[in-house]
Amino acid sequence: MLQLPEPFRLRPLSLSDLPELSVIEQNSFPTPTKEKVFRYELTENKLAHYQALTLKHETQAERLLGYAGFWILADELHISTIAVDPNQRGLGFGELLLLNILFMAYEHSLALVTLEVRESNQIAQALYRKYVFDFVGRRLRYYRDTGEDALLMTVNLKANPQYPHFLHGKRKQLFTRLAGAQL
Ligand SMILES: CC(C)(COP(=O)(O)OP(=O)(O)OC[C@H]1O[C@@H](n2cnc3c(N)ncnc32)[C@H](O)[C@@H]1OP(=O)(O)O)[C@@H](O)C(=O)NCCC(=O)NCCS
Repeated sequence: MLQLPEPFRLRPLSLSDLPELSVIEQNSFPTPTKEKVFRYELTENKLAHYQALTLKHETQAERLLGYAGFWILADELHISTIAVDPNQRGLGFGELLLLNILFMAYEHSLALVTLEVRESNQIAQALYRKYVFDFVGRRLRYYRDTGEDALLMTVNLKANPQYPHFLHGKRKQLFTRLAGAQL
C-alpha cells in the first residue's frame, strides 16, 4: 500500500467504512452495489482486496474520499471497483487509487491487470488510458440495467519493462499535487 503524505491515508477498507462508502456508491453508479455485497467481499471473499482513501485532519474525524477494490485470480489482478466522492473529484484521488492498485499488482508479482468499464463511461476510460490500459475486448450487453456493453481493458505488466518507471514518475507528480491540495 502506498504511504501518503498527511492528512491523506490509504489503508484497507473496513466494515466501519460501509456507511460512508454506501453514500459514495449511491452517487457514483447507475446500479450501486449493495452494502451486503461489500460486507461479503470484506469478510468472506479471500480473493478480494479493498482500499480506502481517507482524509484526517488533527481535530476532525477521518473522512472517506474514495475506495477501490480488486480480486487476484491466478496471475491476474482484476479491478472490481474504483469510486471517488463526487464532491472530491478531479483532484487526483481516482488516479491515486488506481496507481496504488498497480503498485500492489507488482507487490503480488502479477502479470496482468484487467477491468471492465461501461462503454459510456468516458471519464473512467480516460483515467485507464492515461495508465496505458488497452482495449482488448467487449462484453455484449454486460450491464443489465441499461443493456450497455462493457469494454475490457488490460495492462500487461510483464510485457512493459518501462512501466514501473512510468508509475514512479506518476507517483511523484501526484504526491506533489497532494501536498498542494487544500481540503
Ligand atoms: C472515475 C473516477 C474514479 C475518477 O476519479 P477522480 O478522482 O475524479 O479522477 P482524477 O482527478 O484522479 O483524474 C484522473 C484522470 O481521470 C480522467 N478524468 C477525470 N475527470 C475527468 C473528466 N471530468 N473528464 C475527462 N477525463 C477525466 C483524466 O484522464 C484524469 O487525468 P488528468 O487529470 O491528467 O486529466 C470518478 O470519476 C468516479 O468515481 N466516477 C464514478 C465511478 C466510476 O465510474 N468508476 C469507474 C468504474 S470502471
